[in-house]
This record gives sequence, structure tokens and C-alpha cells, in this order.
Amino acid sequence: MSRSHRWSLWVALLLILTLLLAACAQPATPAPAKKLEIFSWWTAGGEAEGLEAMFTVYRQKYPGVEIINAAVAGGAGAQAKAVLKTRMLGGDPPDSFQVHGGAELIDTWVKTGYMEDLTDLWKSEGWMDKFPKQLIDLVSYEGKIYSVPVNVHRGNVLWYNKKIFDQYGLQPPTTFDEFFQVAEALKAKGVTPLALGDKLKWEAAHLFETVLAGVLGAEKYRGLWTGQTPWTGPEVAQAFEIFGRMLDYVNEDHAAHTWDSATQLVLDGKAAMTIMGDWSHGYFLSKGAKPGVDYGWVPAPNNKGLFMVVTDTFGLPKKAPHREQAIAWLKVCGSKEGQEAFNPKKGSICARLDCDRSKFDVYLQSSMDDFARDQLIPSEVHGSAAPEGFATAFNDIIFNFVTSRDAKAAMEALQKACVENKMCK
Ligand code: BGC
Repeated sequence: MSRSHRWSLWVALLLILTLLLAACAQPATPAPAKKLEIFSWWTAGGEAEGLEAMFTVYRQKYPGVEIINAAVAGGAGAQAKAVLKTRMLGGDPPDSFQVHGGAELIDTWVKTGYMEDLTDLWKSEGWMDKFPKQLIDLVSYEGKIYSVPVNVHRGNVLWYNKKIFDQYGLQPPTTFDEFFQVAEALKAKGVTPLALGDKLKWEAAHLFETVLAGVLGAEKYRGLWTGQTPWTGPEVAQAFEIFGRMLDYVNEDHAAHTWDSATQLVLDGKAAMTIMGDWSHGYFLSKGAKPGVDYGWVPAPNNKGLFMVVTDTFGLPKKAPHREQAIAWLKVCGSKEGQEAFNPKKGSICARLDCDRSKFDVYLQSSMDDFARDQLIPSEVHGSAAPEGFATAFNDIIFNFVTSRDAKAAMEALQKACVENKMCK
């Protein structure tokens, strides 16, 4: 072998060695990224902060997981739910999603076979005696448990601007009669009495639902969802009459507002009251307002002693892409730590029974007391009382009433929807 040949051989060998070494130095194929995609409609003030607080607990417990916040604005309306439905039916579920306990979970997703049974998780996490039985029942079907409640919201609350009430020497109304007296007094002073934002329809239905409860009382109100109380009877007629009168006191631009911007009108003193669930409390807090100083609360008119229960829960869809991370998420949702981080910001009380009361503000402590002592009634607008078909019809019918004011047509349409959805005969 000539000198130059030997030289080329050495160069070739060196090259191979370098390549081999470089190959060895390559990092191992990266492990598939751990992800967790959570779907909800929590985008407004209070809601977003609450969700983020729960994400923080998750990140501490399960570092290295990328959380994808797939929230879609829209509250209890059809918008966010339509997005979820397209994904679920298209075989593209998120890892876990917000769903109300009751019909919204059971009729829409459990009976149709889209959810995993979580009973074993409930048992292994020791949750069975940590939640009220009523809540467990709301998320159960045929003896199996299908989701994890994170909170209890109260739907039937009247929020008022304290400065306006103090300025005019007014007391927050507790009955319908008082409501109309106060509303007249405010109107005379040039103040919009009641803020409404029914851009997404459900907000008007929400107000009407509290009027139904106030007129009918717990038992007859419950009967609306089981066919015991007819939609065409005198009490429902009275509820429409009162609801119609209330609408005479709302802001003219209500169709341009949503629940949160209507709450803002109260905070800004552009309206004196609003009737909304206590996610409005979460909203007020997120804007730095002080409960009992900037705003006050009482049960919606004639609703004293009635607690309209709204519970947000999370479940595990079959074929969740990141099942392991989703189960870890559900563990956070059901934990004391997760619920204590989430609820004070969200404006709700824990679904668990053992949360530390001192971590909750004056409003939420009063809500805990009411929850323990009041009659619990379900919310239809917020998914518990009736199947989705009826809920959609209800929102449409009430929304139409806001402009038509045709109570007879609305009552007949409700009765028809009740029959069509097999709630009444
Ligand atoms: C949910 C709340 C939410 C509210 C407004 C309700 O249906 O239960 O968690 O804050 O809608 O978005």
C-alpha cells in the first residue's frame, strides 16, 4: 500500500469514527410530550382565574405536562356546547370537559355511551363519603358514577350596587312586590333598575327560572320537570306576568350584553341590580370589588329558603387522547386542595364537604350556610333539571317572549316541548 493510500484509509476510518460518535451523542428520541386538554366555557372574569388556580395545583403535582386550555366562551348557552358536541361526535374528544351534573351529563353523554365509568376512581380516592349524596346522585346512572363535581354554584341570587342603594336609602328587595317598589324608586332617580345581558339567550331564561321558583315554590317548581306541574297552568301564567313586568325595568341594550358585562353594569353603577348565579361573585372579585362593600346580595325575589343548585363537573370521555393525564386531572378536581384553590376565585362553594371554611369570603360562607339549610332545587338552564332538547327549546321560547311578550304562545310552546322531550304526557 502506498503512503497516500494508507493516508486515505486513515482519513476514511477517522470519518467513520466521527460519524459513529456523533450518532451516539444524539439525544435519545424524545419521549412523546405529555399533554392535557381541558374543555370548558370558563373565559370570563372569575371563571378564568378559578380554572387557572386548578391548573396551578395540577402543575405542582404533575410537572412536565403541557396543559391545553380549550375554553370556548358562551356560558350555559348553546355555543360552547355545540363545539364540544362536534368534537365528541367526530371522535376528537378533549381529555376532560366541563359538564353540569344531572341531565346534561347523564342524558347527553352517559346514556349515549360516550363516558367512562369513574366509580373505581371514586372509591380509590376515598371520595364516597366526602361529597353530599345529592351531588353523587346527580352524576350517577344505574349505580355507576360518571363525573367529579368541583363546585356548587347558587343560581338564584340578586346582586346589587351597595353605593346606589345606600345613596337612595333603599333596602334590597326580598319579594316581588318589594322588587317592583325598589325598581320604581330607582327609575324615578334615572337609574336602570335591573341589568340583563341576554345576547346568548340563556341569561333571560335564567332570570325567568328564578321567577318560576319564586312563584311556584320548591315542590311545584320541581313538578315542572317531571310533568306534575303543567306549563299551561295559572302559576306559570303568573310567572310570565311578573317576568314581563321585570323586563320593563332592564337596560335597553340588554341584547348586546352577556351575563358578565351585565354584572359590570352593576359594578359601574350603570344599573342597580342583576339576577344571576354566583359566578357574578367570582366576576366582581376578579375586578377587585369587595363583597359587602361595593356590592351586596340577597336571594332572588321570593326565593328565600330555596337554593338553586348548579354544579360543574368533569368527566372522562372514552378515547381521551391523554387518559393518564386526564385521570390525574380528575384527581385534582375531586381533591380538597384543588377545590379550595378553585372555588374562592370561581365564586362557588366546594362540592366536597370538608373544605376549610376560613378560606372562603363572607358571601361564600353565607352560601355554605344556605346550602346546608335551604331546600335544594335544580336549575334547568344550567343542565340539571331537563334533557338537552327541552333546555334548548326553553332558551328559545323565553328569548322570544322577551320581545313578543306573548305568554299564551310561550306556555303552549313549553308544554309542547315538555311532551316532545318525554317529561310530560
Ligand atoms: C356554569 C358556571 C359558569 C356560568 C357562566 C354556568 O352554566 O355552571 O360555572 O360560570 O355558566 O359562564
